[in-house]
Amino acid sequence: MPLHEQEDDIRTTPYQEAGELAGITRLVDAFYMNMDTLPEAETIRNMHPSDLTDSRKKLTYFLCGWLGGPKLYQQHYGPISIPGFHKQFPIGYAERDAWLYCMQRALALQPYSDQFKDYLLAALNIPAERVREVNAGEY
Ligand code: HEM
Repeated sequence: MPLHEQEDDIRTTPYQEAGELAGITRLVDAFYMNMDTLPEAETIRNMHPSDLTDSRKKLTYFLCGWLGGPKLYQQHYGPISIPGFHKQFPIGYAERDAWLYCMQRALALQPYSDQFKDYLLAALNIPAERVREVNAGEY
């Protein structure tokens, strides 16, 4: 096989670069730890149940599929529309930014390259902004 084809074969997916299930679990644990402790996140923390076990598991599973890995969320909980699901919560600019801030601080703790951290935060901005948009005018 020519060298360039071999290189294609070993190209990693974002799921692999994020450390697969174990790495994404660590990222989401740090994310919810931030939400639990950062004063900037108090409003969005209060939208969540007091026990974050299920929230952690669901976001971890969702991100696995979203990053190109196994579709664990769908397998365990069925299909989900992220903007549609979040319509039930009062999410505006401040709440979107608080969510992304928790994620930015969680990413900073991970053993990822700076390039991958920037890529992931920029990628997550898109659904976070969609969540805010579908709520616009409702709250
Ligand atoms: C824009 C700011 C956001 C806020 C304030 C927010 C807030 C919330 C809240 C309050 C819940 C319910 C938690 C629970 O009942 O356990 C939730 C669940 C969830 N969120 Fe978000 N979220 C945001 C953005 C996002 C984004 C961008 C994603 C995906 C990339 C996401 C993925 C999820 C998932 C997968 C769940 C679990 C859904 C389920 O219960 O089945 N969220 N979020």
